[in-house]
Amino acid sequence: MTAETSRRVLLAAPRGYCAGVDRAVITVEKALEQYGAPVYVRKQIVHNKYVVQTLEKKGAVFVDETEEVPEDSIVIFSAHGVAPVVHEEAAERRLASIDATCPLVTKVHKEAVRFAREDYDILLIGHDGHEEVIGTMGEAPERIHLVDGPADAEKVTVRDESKVVWLSQTTLSVDETMETVDALKTRFPQLVSPPSDDICYATQNRQVAVKQLAPEADLVIVVGSKNSSNSIRLVEVALQAGAGASYLVDFAEECQDAWLEGVGTVGVTSGASVPEILVEGVLEWLAERGFGDVEVVRSAQESIQFSLPKELRRDLRAEL
Ligand code: F3S
Repeated sequence: MTAETSRRVLLAAPRGYCAGVDRAVITVEKALEQYGAPVYVRKQIVHNKYVVQTLEKKGAVFVDETEEVPEDSIVIFSAHGVAPVVHEEAAERRLASIDATCPLVTKVHKEAVRFAREDYDILLIGHDGHEEVIGTMGEAPERIHLVDGPADAEKVTVRDESKVVWLSQTTLSVDETMETVDALKTRFPQLVSPPSDDICYATQNRQVAVKQLAPEADLVIVVGSKNSSNSIRLVEVALQAGAGASYLVDFAEECQDAWLEGVGTVGVTSGASVPEILVEGVLEWLAERGFGDVEVVRSAQESIQFSLPKELRRDLRAEL
């Protein structure tokens, strides 16, 4: 970059919080207000370090397994969803559970239950070990086969090739998922598709937005945690769409001056579990280094909102 080269930031929109994350975070906050601390949360409520640390300071206690929650306490299930067995474990411990599973994940659970009841083999495209995948597979473990990319599509076996459906995790790369679906269709020509997209609107919109700015960007900074599936996908999509480089950061402090060498245009976006304050931190960090000119690149408007979990709504209403 020469001294005359302009330095600018292209800021993706939409970015950051989706409706499911917003609902899950508000659920924990309202539960703390309503019932008082501690409120137990099984797994990270959403995959973001800052959000988890902030809620911890307010009195939320994050645990990995239901058995870590003292009997007769309140437990909140995370936005990623849980298998039915987790509800059973909570009932056995007499826990008052509040289910903050994103309604768009619940939709995939319901599809899995329905297709399993109709005796389909279900090919679930997703990442091995991801909490959402574990939860969805728990709905019909004997019928669901995990397909983690096109290579798995070559290997998976089913009982009856004329009765196979594919479903997917909500936070995958749209393009990669379609590659896997194509590979599956080659093997199983009668493969049935889900009734509507499983990859959620927020994941899709954030990928479209970053794709739009990536070809012009020498560098794309994605704000998001290392365990956030949709944030990791944004880095991959940015690189595939032509960004010179792309990095995932939790906080502005993780950005490195060396990334800006020879760079004129920086793209910035954030995953669906990232509060805007963290993006503002990155924009400030960039402004301090001469990248104060920020242009918003918008590819969609979002207005989706979900109501709070019914257990919480009931108790909040009772207070009125
Ligand atoms: Fe739900 Fe999609 Fe957000 S599944 S939690 S709206 S990333």
